[in-house]
Amino acid sequence: MTDRARIAFVKPPAKVAGTALAFAGAGLALGPLARATGAAALIGKAAGTVGFSGKAMTTLDLIAPAGTGLDRLVVVGTGEPRELKVRDWPRLGGAAMGALGRAKAATVLLERPDGVAITAEQAADFALGVRLRGYGFDKYKQPKDDNGEATRQPVEIAIAVPDPARARRAWSRQRAVADGVILARDLVNEPANVLGPAEFAARAAELGKLGVAVEVLDEKELRKLGMRALLAVAQGSVRPPRVAVMRWNGGKAKEKPLCFVGKGVVFDTGGISIKPAASMEDMKGDMAGAAAVTGLMRALAGRKAKANVVGVIGLVENMPDGAAQRPGDIVTAKSGRTIEVVNTDAEGRMVLADLLTYAEERFKPRFLIDLATLTGAIIIALGHHHAGLFASDDALAAALAAAGEATGELVWRMPLGPDYDKQIDSKFADMKNTGGRPAGAITGAQFIKRFVKDTPWAHLDVAGTAMESPQTEINKSWASGWGVRLLDRLVRDRYEDRPP
Ligand code: BES
Ligand code: MN
Ligand code: ZN
Repeated sequence: MTDRARIAFVKPPAKVAGTALAFAGAGLALGPLARATGAAALIGKAAGTVGFSGKAMTTLDLIAPAGTGLDRLVVVGTGEPRELKVRDWPRLGGAAMGALGRAKAATVLLERPDGVAITAEQAADFALGVRLRGYGFDKYKQPKDDNGEATRQPVEIAIAVPDPARARRAWSRQRAVADGVILARDLVNEPANVLGPAEFAARAAELGKLGVAVEVLDEKELRKLGMRALLAVAQGSVRPPRVAVMRWNGGKAKEKPLCFVGKGVVFDTGGISIKPAASMEDMKGDMAGAAAVTGLMRALAGRKAKANVVGVIGLVENMPDGAAQRPGDIVTAKSGRTIEVVNTDAEGRMVLADLLTYAEERFKPRFLIDLATLTGAIIIALGHHHAGLFASDDALAAALAAAGEATGELVWRMPLGPDYDKQIDSKFADMKNTGGRPAGAITGAQFIKRFVKDTPWAHLDVAGTAMESPQTEINKSWASGWGVRLLDRLVRDRYEDRPP
């Protein structure tokens, strides 16, 4: 089970029984629902004992609180409710889910401790956090822990709000976003022996059920299309490449699509420029860009987004074998430009180069945004807390930054420029595929930029955020599913009519 939470919205019950979850603000302020439990005095006493002050995302657990009729009362801090940002509502849901532990069912008395009514959006965002916190990738584990106890039982969460019908409508959209994030996490967590290019493409094709038009291009078709840079990366693997094209047409018939492109290296050994053994197992996640694009398509289709969106993902395996490309090889990309492969471990940019040429020519999109676990250098620059954002278009960069603030999937804009671009000039070809160690994330972006003509373009280097990212209220998994919420938000806020 990857997904434990069973969520329902209900009216605040006249009398709560079993396990309840309530909220306390800064200074232990309680709203009407929390007070109605009759636990105010007990909360005050327990809070004093353990030093709980209602600080946002902290929790207090009361077992069998006397005089309330409850078996358990979990109190979650909101801090000063006025200071809660849009991105904090999922975090509150995550903190709540985390505090519930092994509970089988709970009623959440969802309210702001200052009595201000919460919106349906906030309730849905809370539920999103509950769902995402309940995620765990445990399909390869025995369903018992060391003590023989069953792990990861489902938990029924009834969220009490004044207007459950409106909350349900908002949740029907955010639930689709949760499904997208969970799909992306599942794909990234899956090992490469199970998820090769063909298997990943088959997972993308499953989106057909939701009304996404999916085409899977095989090696022969890729050869016909002239995707020689992508094929050069794939040629060292016994598992042939695939490109999946996913189209969601929820917008006006004539409207140009938005286009997202993802790096899908199902495993990156480095190829002949082989990587050191330490942590190489993490390179099963080198398809996180493609996973985010696939998860995004699932989210958009699931909530029937009013926009035309194309997702293009390049699925290859970077292996060293007798057929593998060599350092020094020169390949002609689909665009006609030549690449000197000075390092076979700089493979992601070669995959993206052909995908971007293809996507721009075929779809003439309003923008191109690519996502890739492109460089270790971006982890050195930004750690795991921001993705690197590179853009040819200031408005697009600003829109991505705003979506980052709203979702908590933060981006940080990095520079581009002719001086960096020079680093990838080659003695033998139009360009080489690395520019050396200085500014490694930037020269990677400069390489990709050379394959976009005049479409507004942004590149997100997600090497630090998509996997082994910090544990948060809404993610305890190795794979974060980073990018799905960010890009869903971008589409929703800037490219479609706001939902009612
Ligand atoms: N997939 C890696 C980047 C990566 C590193 C992702 C660590 C996640 C965690 C990429 O293909 C790569 O190997 N990049 C090289 C580029 C270099 C050879 C110019 C790198 O970052 O060292
Ligand atoms: Mn590599
Ligand atoms: Zn890679």
